[in-house]
Amino acid sequence: MALRIGDEAPNFQADTTEGPVDFHQWKGDSWAILFSHPKDFTPVCTTELGYMARVKDEFDKRNVKILAVSVDSTEDHKAWSKDIAETQGTAPNYPIIDGSDRKVPDLYDMIHPNANDTLTVRSVFFIDPNNKIRAQITYPASTGRNFDEILRVIDSLQLTDTVKVATPANWTDGDDVIIVPALSTEEAKERFPEGWDEQKPYLRVVKQPAR
Ligand code: BEZ
Repeated sequence: MALRIGDEAPNFQADTTEGPVDFHQWKGDSWAILFSHPKDFTPVCTTELGYMARVKDEFDKRNVKILAVSVDSTEDHKAWSKDIAETQGTAPNYPIIDGSDRKVPDLYDMIHPNANDTLTVRSVFFIDPNNKIRAQITYPASTGRNFDEILRVIDSLQLTDTVKVATPANWTDGDDVIIVPALSTEEAKERFPEGWDEQKPYLRVVKQPAR
């Protein structure tokens, strides 16, 4: 059965480029991004894993651990990492799972047979400190992902976990946010004493509160 938002992220044990990992133990109470790429030694994947390495410190700042996977072996991941360093300027600085047995790709439903029956699609799972899946995105092999969007989603999830707001279209950290409809006017007055811009009774825009 497909994994959905709110489901527990299944645990697994796997070999990685940084040694054996028990997923839940490795993750601890951090957030995690588990993402798949279709194949080692392919062009778009090379740019993606290099870009992720370049921005890893942004994930670190947000207490997010990174774990990659494809259907390739650890040996291949290690050999390919040298190409990534050479062409993208940074080698992967996060573990890459040996998915040659398809255990993790199958567990997370990352192989979509109507796209390709042997390769993983470009899946991203956003997993919170309680091991719950909080968001996911899926792209085909032909479309490289926007890793700044992944950071943006993390920012939204972490903000909306701490204050009763939601983030509007194209929001980035620091922009105005929306008071959740579940909050009554009375409750909103208590939480946002400086007021808000009420464009409709259901569309209440407020400065982004501190986390
Ligand atoms: C790529 O990363 O460029 C790629 C991977 C698998 C199939 C097609 C393209």
